Amino acid sequence: MSFPPSFQLKLRNKHGGQKPPELCELIIKTFTKEGDRVLDPFCGVGGTLFGCYLSKRQGVGIEINKKWIDIYKSVCQIENIKPLKIINGDSKQILKKLDEKKDVKFDFILTDVPFWNMDMVKKSIGRYKKAGEPATIIYSEKSKLSAFNDSKHSSETLKDDWELLIKDVFTECFKLLKPGCYCAVFIGNMYHDGQYHLLNADISRILSKIGFVLKGEIIWYDVSKRLHLYGINFSWIPSLVHQFIMVFRKERTTKISREEVEKIKNENIRRIKQQQEHKLAKHKGILKFINTKI
Ligand SMILES: C[S@@+](CC[C@H](N)C(=O)[O-])C[C@H]1O[C@@H](n2cnc3c(N)ncnc32)[C@H](O)[C@@H]1O
Repeated sequence: MSFPPSFQLKLRNKHGGQKPPELCELIIKTFTKEGDRVLDPFCGVGGTLFGCYLSKRQGVGIEINKKWIDIYKSVCQIENIKPLKIINGDSKQILKKLDEKKDVKFDFILTDVPFWNMDMVKKSIGRYKKAGEPATIIYSEKSKLSAFNDSKHSSETLKDDWELLIKDVFTECFKLLKPGCYCAVFIGNMYHDGQYHLLNADISRILSKIGFVLKGEIIWYDVSKRLHLYGINFSWIPSLVHQFIMVFRKERTTKISREEVEKIKNENIRRIKQQQEHKLAKHKGILKFINTKI
């Protein structure tokens, strides 16, 4: 799906992992209603927060690197938008503090986790061999993203650290999410050191152990990524132009009442009608435009 270069994309591009606000808006609208509270524990330069702004939801973001928060705030200033709540710090600690405040609960979590190893200074894209020469590891360009930790360990230890970060952060997220609500996680699989890694499967395994129930996946084909051909004549190396949005739910432990079911049904009917009216108004606008052109 293609999205417009909105909300000062050039500035947000400094991050390297920014997500289109309009894509976040679509996801947020699917899982919440107007006024609901949305959390992003790894918010970067604010893809989720701009999605909240577009969909009129309340957003709270947490970001460890102040540089990305400053960019989010600069974009808001240029676009004349009131910034949503964004907290500078490590989610592991911040979420615990939020959980201590008993009235803080969220209707939806939308986040984009730091990828294992992707944030390291050099990204290995594989082992290559020229005829008659020994194989060497080739590195791609330096990543723009900040490391998810400062470890100088091997990639195996780094993967353990990454899994621990995911476990710690989502354990806190689980406590802060209201029962019956959803959590959607952007994750891309990756090719590293000659092997393909299913990080979406890792995320599913870790979150399922915490108590989240996997409900499905959305595949986002990022048309801004170019298709590459790697390893011609020697091996087949996938070019990655897609990411997964893994959708989990925190199931209810108690049954909801008949009145509540009715309330949800009526609210859904109201939302569908509102969407249809919106579409109709848009078509009418286009028709009017065509008529005046003719
Ligand atoms: C993939 S990026 C998110 C990009 C975001 N979706 C956007 O549109 O800008 C992940 C972010 O998580 C941040 N991060 C990594 N570890 C963190 C932690 N422990 N607590 C909070 N933020 C963290 C990184 O600095 C990075 O900006």
